[in-house]
Amino acid sequence: MKGILLAGGMGSRLLPLTQSLSKQILPIYDKPMIYYPLSTLMLAGIRDILIISSERDIKGFKALLGDGKCYGLSISYKVQSSPRGIAEAFIIGESFIGQEAVSLILGDNIFYGDDFEKTLEKVMRDQEGATIFGYKVENPEAFGVVSFNKEGKVTALEEKPKNPKSCYAVPGLYFYTPDVVQIAKSLKPSLRGELEITDVNKVYLNQNHLRVECLDKKVVWLDTGTPEALLKAANFVEMVQKMQGVAIGCIEEVAYKKGFITKSQLVALAEKMGRNQYGNYLRGLLEG
Ligand code: G1P
Repeated sequence: MKGILLAGGMGSRLLPLTQSLSKQILPIYDKPMIYYPLSTLMLAGIRDILIISSERDIKGFKALLGDGKCYGLSISYKVQSSPRGIAEAFIIGESFIGQEAVSLILGDNIFYGDDFEKTLEKVMRDQEGATIFGYKVENPEAFGVVSFNKEGKVTALEEKPKNPKSCYAVPGLYFYTPDVVQIAKSLKPSLRGELEITDVNKVYLNQNHLRVECLDKKVVWLDTGTPEALLKAANFVEMVQKMQGVAIGCIEEVAYKKGFITKSQLVALAEKMGRNQYGNYLRGLLEG
């Protein structure tokens, strides 16, 4: 399975923070935002990853992650010249996807939970058509929303509805068969001029090829698009890391635990961090 990480958008809700920097390079406590979604793709076992960002910001991601080799990954890059919607990622990534299944993660989505890796492994094993997630929230109108009937069958998918039919938001992590490219190409832009990911999912729903996995509250999902959400996410990461002594979104750790890199590669990554807290955590993994 291939992975696409979309780190585009204007980040307009975060101005002036995003005046000269990509939203996805801003810090969430002790690491850049993009580490978190990247670590999620890695947790799913995905190693071949395309990062899509704007012309302005792509250099920053290249400087941060390079070709990904030191994390046991193969990272390539493509530009989205203007924010024409999430679904455009599949058109931009057509040659990268080829005939393989693909997962897309949005660069501002953070997932955390003990059992989440198992959920991802299950999705990867049973992948057919499209798999998306549902997550109960208090403000569904800010997201894509999925609603169900009494039997649990999906009845509707709506993008940021004014009057949501359910309180289940659709987080920014999606799994598709390679036909997603043709589906994305067949879409018409929405009223806001974007190729909507919700419209992609509606095609799979109409074909009876959409699966929705509802995540319970053992999984934490954070979207980090506003200053409040950014701070909340940073506070959450700090609290969990300090109290539990585990790191969230640590790509070096995931690479090591997944067997993408050897012990000596982890040593080299830890040395690069010097004697700071992050480096000490990585060295602790070797001892542990
Ligand atoms: C996008 C999608 C929306 C999804 C959300 C998850 O919205 O359009 O369907 O629920 O990501 O983060 P955005 O946050 O880009 O406005």
